[in-house]
Amino acid sequence: MTEEYINEESNHTNGNMVIDNVSSDSNKKYSFEDFNIPKPIGMVPADVPPLGYKEFKSMFPRIDLPVQKIQRISFGFKDLQPNSLYWGDNLHVMRNLPNESIDLIYIDPPFFSGREYNTVWGDNNEVRSFTDIWEGGIDNYLKWMNVRLFEMRRLLKNTGSIYVHCDWHASHYIKVEMDKIFGYNNFRNEIAWCYSGGGVPKDAFARKHDAILVYSKTKINVFHPQYKEYSEKSQRLVKSRGGVSIDGRVRDLARGKHMEDWWTDIQSLQTMDTERIGYPTQKPEALLERIIKASSNEGDVVADFFCGGGTTPVVAQRLNRRWIACDQSRVAIEVTKARLTGSFNGSTQHTITAVPDIELYYWGTYDAGKLSDLSSSEFKDFVIKAFGATRVMNEFYDGLKNNIPVLVGPSSLKKFVTGDDVIEFAENIKSKSAYNRGIITAWQYDQSVREAQDFLRSEGSEIQLINMDLIKITDEKFREHVSQHEKSHPSYKRYLRFILPPIINVKVVPLGNLKYKFDLSDSISQNNAQFINLQIDFEYKGKFRPSVILNKIVKCAEYTFPYAGKHTVVFSMQDAEGGISEHIVEVDAI
Ligand SMILES: C[S@@+](CC[C@H](N)C(=O)[O-])C[C@H]1O[C@@H](n2cnc3c(N)ncnc32)[C@H](O)[C@@H]1O
Repeated sequence: MTEEYINEESNHTNGNMVIDNVSSDSNKKYSFEDFNIPKPIGMVPADVPPLGYKEFKSMFPRIDLPVQKIQRISFGFKDLQPNSLYWGDNLHVMRNLPNESIDLIYIDPPFFSGREYNTVWGDNNEVRSFTDIWEGGIDNYLKWMNVRLFEMRRLLKNTGSIYVHCDWHASHYIKVEMDKIFGYNNFRNEIAWCYSGGGVPKDAFARKHDAILVYSKTKINVFHPQYKEYSEKSQRLVKSRGGVSIDGRVRDLARGKHMEDWWTDIQSLQTMDTERIGYPTQKPEALLERIIKASSNEGDVVADFFCGGGTTPVVAQRLNRRWIACDQSRVAIEVTKARLTGSFNGSTQHTITAVPDIELYYWGTYDAGKLSDLSSSEFKDFVIKAFGATRVMNEFYDGLKNNIPVLVGPSSLKKFVTGDDVIEFAENIKSKSAYNRGIITAWQYDQSVREAQDFLRSEGSEIQLINMDLIKITDEKFREHVSQHEKSHPSYKRYLRFILPPIINVKVVPLGNLKYKFDLSDSISQNNAQFINLQIDFEYKGKFRPSVILNKIVKCAEYTFPYAGKHTVVFSMQDAEGGISEHIVEVDAI
């Protein structure tokens, strides 16, 4: 290889990144053979674009799909701006969020381990996404990460910071890429979070720390130093010298010592820990508490786009921050919801201030049943965006696609578009706007539409009827703007799917002495998927606070009521495609 790298004396400038020249030997010419990869900092890593940067547009094209609001969970303070929980691929969710709107981002993405990843939740959405992440090795992993880090940088305010939680598998690669995306000068810390427990390799020291890479967006980042107690020895010494240490500097014993970038005082979660929910990769709340306190203020927006079981939003809420959380696993979202509703209630168990509502949104996969809850205008907005058309406010049609008028049928899954509707639409667009082509999208058509189409054709008008089909949108026309990317990026196939809620059937079997068996094995997934998550609130009091059973097989539970009389039991079942529904049973316990 003959490639040469010249160490320039001046600072490198790359877009809005300024990179300090850190080498002292400025005139020496280096040939590639002089170095082992990775190349020295200050020369190469910071002034070449991040891996995949030029391919972002082709590898991860933007698809304009709508965000569907599914639910609002209320804590009794409806005037406060709600926090947001998103189910969907974080890249596309982030692309729907505005610039410079977030103060702090913490992420704990799946680690690159070079082998098949053990899924956390096991639902089909998670399993599908792992193929994109791991195929193509570390290169592909870094591209997958970079495009997301790039969006995160856009979302951060100028005073904002990002914490990326990684481990030895890829932290060194991610750091180089972050230097390029956030700027070498905006590196703040590489925190070594040290813990013990678990296995030990035979041929190396035990790997017992994670690396948390911290970058700020600019030089004016919010940072509140955190303090820890001086060691007993230092305390004794300082006290004996009247508050001054050996180096003559005053030590504030009450405040404590500036915390270093190695943290040994926060243990990883153990089996018996009360905050442990029982899924792998759960991070301790104390870790998030330190990060959130250090790099945000009360009222700031904290985001976690790989939120897993919701450690970040729970801690952010407790510390009176606003939050945005996202995960591509529907089970993770349900666990997060349950954790939040279990931790906070109207009377604010954990906080001294009011708790805002939570809004749950879907991106990419949609709840077909909930679409009929939308107002007619919201439903039209939704369908027009999903269809890749432009919304038009007009009494004759609802949107335009390639300059062809589009009419959206009724939101109810049970209503049909009739032949008369088709003729009326064709006549309207012809007489009012001189169009002789049109498109109707609807859940269902009755048989008379074919005849109407034939009649219109004989009159010189062509009306195309597009079926919005559940689960699979079979009509390529409907998912055109998604399917045009499917060949180059197969994962896009999974977007724009509609799912239906499961039908829950519960058999209640009294076992005597207030004990009951609840058998849900006759429940049916309407998405042809396995059941994956069962949640039950045996003592329902107006807000669903379930115990979580993450198990593909368990469809039965036993419970002994604490006293005789009426009890409301609520069941929530989730299938692997993300379909979810709740079911209420009243039990008169004896
Ligand atoms: C290591 S876990 C996070 C655990 C979390 N810090 C906690 O304490 O519970 C990583 C999470 O990232 C999610 N994930 C992976 N790829 C994603 C993507 N493209 N978009 C959104 N979430 C994703 C996984 O479903 C998983 O829940």
